[in-house]
This record gives sequence, C-alpha cells and structure tokens, in this order.
Amino acid sequence: MEIRLGIVGLGTVGQGVLELLERQGGFYASSLNLDFRVTAACARSEKTLARITDPRCLKTSDPLAVANHPEVDVFIEVAGGEDVPKAWVEAALKSGKHVVTANKALLAKHGAELFPLAAANGRLLLFEAAVGGGIPIVRTLQESLIGNDIDGLACIINGTCNYILTQMAVNKASFSDALAEAQRLGYAEADPTFDIDGWDALHKVSLLASLAHGKYVDYRRLTAEGIRNVSALDIRMAEELGYEVKLLGVVERVAAKDGGEGRIFAAVYPVLLERSHQLAAVHGVLNAVYLKTSAAGPLLLTGAGAGKLPTASSVISDVLAAAHQSVKAGAAPTDAAFFSADNAASLLSIDELETEFYLRLTAVDKPGVLSKVTGILGEHGISIRALSQKPEHDPENVPVIILTHTAKNARVMRALAEIDALDIIREQTRVIRFYK
Ligand SMILES: NC(=O)c1ccc[n+]([C@@H]2O[C@H](COP(=O)([O-])OP(=O)(O)OC[C@H]3O[C@@H](n4cnc5c(N)ncnc54)[C@H](OP(=O)(O)O)[C@@H]3O)[C@@H](O)[C@H]2O)c1
Repeated sequence: MEIRLGIVGLGTVGQGVLELLERQGGFYASSLNLDFRVTAACARSEKTLARITDPRCLKTSDPLAVANHPEVDVFIEVAGGEDVPKAWVEAALKSGKHVVTANKALLAKHGAELFPLAAANGRLLLFEAAVGGGIPIVRTLQESLIGNDIDGLACIINGTCNYILTQMAVNKASFSDALAEAQRLGYAEADPTFDIDGWDALHKVSLLASLAHGKYVDYRRLTAEGIRNVSALDIRMAEELGYEVKLLGVVERVAAKDGGEGRIFAAVYPVLLERSHQLAAVHGVLNAVYLKTSAAGPLLLTGAGAGKLPTASSVISDVLAAAHQSVKAGAAPTDAAFFSADNAASLLSIDELETEFYLRLTAVDKPGVLSKVTGILGEHGISIRALSQKPEHDPENVPVIILTHTAKNARVMRALAEIDALDIIREQTRVIRFYK
C-alpha cells in the first residue's frame, strides 16, 4: 500500500528522515507492504528545497500547502517553532492527515488544543522524537508499560546542560568556558537561555508527566531552575561528598492521605546525585530516563537525545505507526484525554517538596557568623546534617557548605531569604537539592 508523506522542514531532522526512508524503504515495502513516497516537501529556502530531486514531489515554501495537500496521508512537522507550526498542524488534522512532530515546544504549549483536535478528527498526533531524541520513551510509556503505575521518573533530558556539567566535572572547566565549548561544538545555541535555564527540559518533562500519569500537566504551572548558578566550586564540593551534579527532570506521584487521587509533582532543577545512581553515569550530551515502575521494577533508558539520525529514528517509528493506522482506515485511538485541560492533574508545588539540601553560603569570616546562620535555620525547623567552612578563601568571601536533613522547600527558601539579607552574607546562597 502506498503511504504519501508531506514533510515540513528539511534541516537536521528532516534530512535524517529522508535518509532513513531511503535506507529502509526496501524493507518496509517487501516486509510490511508499505510503500512510502514523499509527495510534498517544504523549507524556507530554494537551496534547501533543491535537495528534493523527485519531479513528482511538490516543493514549496508554504507549510499550509503541504498540510492541505490532497495527496498527503501523513504530515511530518520537523521545522520547529513554538507557535507558528500550530496552524499547520491544525490544518493537517482538519484535512484528515495523521501528524508526526518532533516539536516539544509546540506540544507543551498547544497540546491541550491539538490533541483534542486530533481526537475530534479521528487522527493520530505522534511525537516520539519530541522527548529524548532517539530514546523510545513515548511509546514505552504509552504501550510497553501500560501494565504499570509509574511511581516516579527522573530524567536527564537536555543534552546541552548535561554536556556543560560533565565538562565542569571532568575537565574542571568553569561554567562559562564549558558553555562556550558547547556552543563551538553546536550543542548549544548562540542564545542558550532556553536550554540552560531549564525551559527545554521542562517542556519535555511536562509531556512525560502527562504520559506517565494520564493527566494533563501544564508546563506553565511547573518550576524550572537551570544550571546558571552551578559553579565549579559546587561541582568540586559535590565530588568530595561522593556526588555528581546533574540537571534532572523529576516527576513523582504523591499519594493522597485520604486514599484519594493523589497529586503529581513535576519540576526541573539541579540535583546532587549519589555517584552509584545509574543516572550519575550518564555523561556528555547523552539523555536518560529512569523509571520506577510498579510491576517491571526500575528501568533506565539512555541514548542520544538529539542528532540527525537518532531523532529521525523516532520520527520514522511514528511514521510507521501512522501508516499502520492508515491501513486500518478507522478512527485512530488517541491520547487526547492525557492533554486536555479538563483532565488537568492536581499538582504539588515545589514549595511542598521535601528533600535534603546542599547550601553554599558566601560569608565574611568573623566570629558569630555561623551561629547566626544556624540560628535562622533552626528557627525555621531545618536541621543540619553537616557544616563545613572552606578557610583557604578570601576572608571577606568564605564559602560555607551546609547539608540539611530533609526539610520542606518553602521553609528552606524562607530561611535563606533571611540569611541572605544579613550584612555578613556576600552573595546569594546557592541551593542544590539532593535526589535519591
Ligand atoms: N536537531 C535535533 O537533534 C532535534 C532533536 C529533537 C527534536 N528536534 C526538533 O525537530 C525540529 C526540527 O529541528 P532541526 O534541528 O531539524 O531544525 P533545523 O535544522 O533548523 O531545520 C529546520 C527546517 O525547517 C525549515 N523551516 C523552518 N521554519 C520554516 C517555516 N516557517 N516555513 C517553512 N520551512 C521552515 C527550514 O528551512 P530552511 O532550510 O530553508 O531554513 C529547515 O529546513 C524542532 O522542533 C526541534 O526542536 C530536533
């Protein structure tokens, strides 16, 4: 059976998709009886479009021409952009096409409209490549682990941040040098804000949280803390304590005390991870998702979180799923409920998170400083597990490391607001939470 594909975006991922279709096409035709043909392709520039050599293929710079093309069964959006592609995806769904996208920003922001639209039109909206690049995590959660509750999930889901933290740990690089190196190698954008402040990871975490719990988790209601404030000194301190610093996406289900539905906690922040934890061994641009499942036990999926062929591999798996659905010709099963606003998850805010904390204060070296600081922590009910002062520094700026026992996030933040207002404190206290 012929499956007609329309593709918007012929950049890194788009080229990878065309390459894999070329490589694997013979197998799909002979073994699966699926004959893929690209009938419409879109990019902004003539130069990019010139890569399409099939004279039968429509070449256009107008994505809507692909979305509305009568000879397209599956619409592939691999162009990017948070808002602009929404109209293309809407048009494709309304004109009866299945949609495959690699675009996490689009789905995090507009999924609550797009998934119900797909359901209303009996079409699939698939996004394996949007989370974790080549790691098959979306369908794993949707299908392979359907017999499980997902009790917890932790992920390293932004390769740029993981690369920077790895460079800081292994090569003792400063944050700014590690970022510059990531930019030089093409791992980080010229404006790296979206990655290093945790927003890209938060988009993906909101999608994972929705999939894991069958409830809509809106990223706009979650907290993202990036790695901008993690210093070389914090990495060194962590190392001395037997930990790695990682930017983690964390999703937990918190049971309700009355046996009710419970709440979902989802956030992105830097953590101290014991060196023996499986995620601590995930270095460089690699991504990983660690799942605590109720029946299958703990699972770790790790691999390339980005890149031409890994990402295209996930796009192709969605294209195949859409093709199988086209063969069946009925209305498609849908995850609309997962992402519709009237199925919103009850969320636990980061204020209520209870964990242990690493605090790095920068204080003047004079008598009474430590008792003032510990006094404030005590007044807020925060007990101290360990405290050390690093004497080798300038007496005007002495790092004081405090590890706390488990404490509520909101209490720690209130205490730190008081501590940071003291005239003996030289800069804002750095906070890294522990993850177990
Ligand atoms: N790269 C990765 O490793 C990766 C991994 C996971 C997910 N993704 C996602 O995949 C998507 C594509 O990423 P990419 O790295 O392949 O991007 P890219 O290399 O920048 O390619 C984007 C392509 O889309 C075309 N395009 C962009 N805006 C357009 C518009 N308004 N109208 C028509 N064509 C347009 C560009 O045309 P021109 O060539 O003419 O400029 C280019 O061919 C993004 O959503 C990204 O987040 C990427």
